[in-house]
Amino acid sequence: MSKIQQLQLRHFRNIDQACLAFGDGLNVIVGDNAAGKTALIEAIWVLASGRSFRTAKPEHLIQRGQTETVLFCEVSDGERAHKIGLSRAADKVTLKVDGETLRNQAEMAAKLPVQLLTPESHRLLEEGPKARRQFMDWGCFHHDADFIHLWRTYRRALKQRNHALKRKLPANQARLWDQQLIDTAERIDRIRAAYITDLTPYLVEFCQALMPEISVQPACHYQPGWPKSADSYTQLLDEHYPKDALQGHTQYGSHRADIKFRFDGQDAMMTLSRGQQKLFVCALLLAQASLYEKHSGKPVIMLIDDLPAELDAKHRETLLKLLDLLHIQHILTSTADDLIPILNPETARRWHIDNGGISAETRT
Ligand SMILES: Nc1ncnc2c1ncn2[C@@H]1O[C@H](COP(=O)(O)OP(=O)(O)OP(=O)(O)O)[C@@H](O)[C@H]1O
Ligand SMILES: [Mg+2]
Repeated sequence: MSKIQQLQLRHFRNIDQACLAFGDGLNVIVGDNAAGKTALIEAIWVLASGRSFRTAKPEHLIQRGQTETVLFCEVSDGERAHKIGLSRAADKVTLKVDGETLRNQAEMAAKLPVQLLTPESHRLLEEGPKARRQFMDWGCFHHDADFIHLWRTYRRALKQRNHALKRKLPANQARLWDQQLIDTAERIDRIRAAYITDLTPYLVEFCQALMPEISVQPACHYQPGWPKSADSYTQLLDEHYPKDALQGHTQYGSHRADIKFRFDGQDAMMTLSRGQQKLFVCALLLAQASLYEKHSGKPVIMLIDDLPAELDAKHRETLLKLLDLLHIQHILTSTADDLIPILNPETARRWHIDNGGISAETRT
C-alpha cells in the first residue's frame, strides 16, 4: 500500500521546519487563512511531481530569506519503504531516491503516486484541454511503462518540426520529423484511448456514489488531437503540411488531445451545477485512483486542500467514507476541525498549523 509515513520540510514557503508522521487513513491539518495549509499540500505535490501547482517559479517555494528548501518523505509501497528527497535552490534541483541522485523526476513520481484535489481542481472541466491532458497522462504514465518515453520522443520531434516551420526552413527539414511524430502519436493515441475506456466504468460508479440524484451516466469522449474524420494521422499530416508551413506550427497531433465529458449527450459543464462539477472532479480522481490500484496493486495517496471549500457537509462525509472504504491514505486541510467528520477516531491523525508552525493534536 502506498503510504507516506513521514514528511519533513525545511524552509518551504512560510514553514521553517516541520516533521509529520502520517497515519494510514485520515490526516487532517487545520489552520486559519495564511497559516500554511496549502504550502504543506504543495510540498508533497512538489516531491511527487517536481513542480508546484501554484507557481511556475521554483524560487517562490523557498522561504523568504533562505537560499534552499529541502523536502523529504518516507513512502511505503507495502513491501518496502523508500526515501524520497528533493532540495531546491533558485537555479538547481537535486532529486534523490534511497540515497541515489536521479536525473529526472519520473522515478519519484512512480514511487509517490498522489492525486490532488484543490479549490482550483474544477479547472479540469472549466478550462482548455491542457488540464484534461495532464489528468489523462498521469493515468497513462502510471498505466503503461512506454508512455513517458513515447511522450518525450513526441515532444522532441514536435519541437524540432515547429522550429523548422517557424523559421520557414525548407520543407524537407520540417518533414524530417514526420515519421517520428506519426509513430509516437499513434502509439500515444492507443494508450490514451485504452486508458479512458478502462477509466469510464469507475467514473460511472463514483458519479453514482457521489451524485445519486443524477439518473444518467457520464460518458467520456476521448479526442486524439486530430479530426476523427481523417483516414489516418499520416495522411492528415501530409495534407495539412502547406497550412502548417503557413501558420508556422503543427496544428494536429497528440499535443492537442482532449476528453469531453457528457451526460446524456450534453457537456458536463453545461448540465451540472457548480457543486456537481466539483463532485464530478472528485469522481474523476477517485476513478483514477481505483484504476491505478487495480493495475499496480497499490492505492494512491489523496491530497485535498481546503475540503470544506470544495464540498458541503453531506458530500464531505460521503467522500471520506469512500476514501476509507478504498483504504486510501488521505491528507487534507481545513480551516476548522468541526468541518471534517472523523469516521475512525482511533486511526485519524490531526495537526494544527499556525503561521507555518505545525503541532500534532490529540483529540479529546
Ligand atoms: N516563499 C515564501 N516565504 C515565506 N512565506 C511565504 C512564501 N510564499 C508564501 N508565503 C506565505 O505563506 C503563508 C501561507 O500561505 P498558504 O497559501 O499556504 O496559506 P493557507 O493556510 O493555505 O491559507 P488559506 O486558508 O487562505 O488558503 C502566506 O502568508 C504567504 O504569504
Ligand atoms: Mg490555502
